[in-house]
Amino acid sequence: MRIVQWLGSLHRLHSAYGKSGSDGSARVSASGGGAAREAIVILDMGSQTAMLIARRVRELNVYCELLPPTISRDAIRHLDPKGVILSGGPASVHDDDAPRAPDWAIGGELPVLGICYGMQELAHRLGGSVAKSAEREFGPASLGHNGANPLFAGIPDPMDVWMSHGDHVDALPMGFVSTAGTDGIAVAAMKDAADRRFGIQFHPEVVHTPRGADLLANFVRDICGCRGTWTADHFVTASIEQIHKQVGEGRVLCALSGGVDSAVAAALAHRAIGDQLTCVFVDNGLMRLGELEQVAATFREAMSIDLRTVDAGAEFLEALAGVADPEAKRKRVGETFIAVFEEAAREIGEVDFLLQGTTYPDVVESAGVGHKSAAIKSHHNVGGLPEHMRFELVEPLKYLFKDEVRNVGRELGLPAEIIDRQPYPGPGLSIRISGEVTRERVRILQLADAIVLDEVRSAGLYDDLWQSFAILTDTRTVGVQGDARTYGRVVAIRAVTADDAMTADWARLPHDVLARISSRIVNEIPEVNRVVYDITSKPPGTIEWE
Ligand code: XMP
Repeated sequence: MRIVQWLGSLHRLHSAYGKSGSDGSARVSASGGGAAREAIVILDMGSQTAMLIARRVRELNVYCELLPPTISRDAIRHLDPKGVILSGGPASVHDDDAPRAPDWAIGGELPVLGICYGMQELAHRLGGSVAKSAEREFGPASLGHNGANPLFAGIPDPMDVWMSHGDHVDALPMGFVSTAGTDGIAVAAMKDAADRRFGIQFHPEVVHTPRGADLLANFVRDICGCRGTWTADHFVTASIEQIHKQVGEGRVLCALSGGVDSAVAAALAHRAIGDQLTCVFVDNGLMRLGELEQVAATFREAMSIDLRTVDAGAEFLEALAGVADPEAKRKRVGETFIAVFEEAAREIGEVDFLLQGTTYPDVVESAGVGHKSAAIKSHHNVGGLPEHMRFELVEPLKYLFKDEVRNVGRELGLPAEIIDRQPYPGPGLSIRISGEVTRERVRILQLADAIVLDEVRSAGLYDDLWQSFAILTDTRTVGVQGDARTYGRVVAIRAVTADDAMTADWARLPHDVLARISSRIVNEIPEVNRVVYDITSKPPGTIEWE
């Protein structure tokens, strides 16, 4: 991972620095309505897809948290869970260091659904047996089920499922029955007589199990009795109340990055505490054309938020002078940001809290929720900002996924240009300019980038792409324009589709869109005489060139 990648994103920068907010307050802020709230607890037994289970449950408008299996019953009492899901995981129940489900989760006090390893653990602990397999079953399977299981209500038999396991249950615990099987295994689903404890060998959370979401809905809604009250308007009301409670009369500072997370956090906090919130937007001179104006117009004019913009382009350029190495650029941008932000904060005066748009994936990724982590840790415990700048954190989005953040943004009336914008790296154009970053090169790239976005938008493709942008390469080529020979720069175009940034595919942009982009760039930017299109996926390429 790029060392300073996180430094780039302004809100993440803060989330990595600064003093931890009290855990209690963060929980309440996420609790969205206190006692009336419904919650499901997902115990992460080490699965790659545990986060996906959480997403699926949230899509049912039910609040859930991903927690380590070492968590005690007392530690989750405030959630008042209506049910528990045990995720899959790579271990075998026969391993000495295999993650163990806590007694409170498997005893039947709460409805429980064990998925894959979770099912095996349930069987193993309740007196059944799990056979060790030498080979893994991985891929699609057809599952036959007998209908006598409320988990499968309304789901046709047979059902297409996705398998990924080695071991399997070969003897049921007392009182359990098998309700489904595949060609490979006899017990692909099991349940107890009371319809409280369930196990399934396949993965309902992945898209390759097309009716998986229905199965999870059967568990969460019908078996656990959740009605689905976790909605954006409910969240907004509860968060406003909570921010009020946490902040009181205090002053809150927020660094707006132009990205959706910090924007939604600021809009939410502004609803709650109005003028007690001051936002700072550091213009590092490495933004896209018109970015500052757009953020300023939205926040200052449309929302009447106290927004201070700091024109620090010169400082950033100075810090980047002579620097060609990508990581060094990131580091310089990060350090300069801290210095500029510190200065801006000093001018604002007394500040009690730092508002940031930390989201749930940030928390889970840095906390390492899986079974090996002894307890949930705070993710923002890295020192960095000077001591006097360590504020208490306000993190209203800490338990939300990105799509939920967007829904909250819509609920708050933020414009689509902010909510649906493509991700943009914190170091901005500096990592899209090969070699040294100069004012002139930034200007050329801003123009090229604006043309790409303009054409992509006009073609109605903006929302289909994860990112689309231009890169200013350090290659020069010969061309002919009019009657004259040119020796100009090469601009590369990058457009990718992705579900997350971990993998990406180069977008099959229509040729006529590429043609318009190319001809506009060479005609409108005299310094550029050639345009190429990047046809590399990730992996092996990365999305950004640096
Ligand atoms: P890569 O280039 O690693 O990028 O495929 C994955 C995603 O991360 C963004 N990115 C960054 N974001 N600071 C950021 O805030 C950075 O230093 C940085 N580098 C890459 C990139 O735009 C893509 O969305």
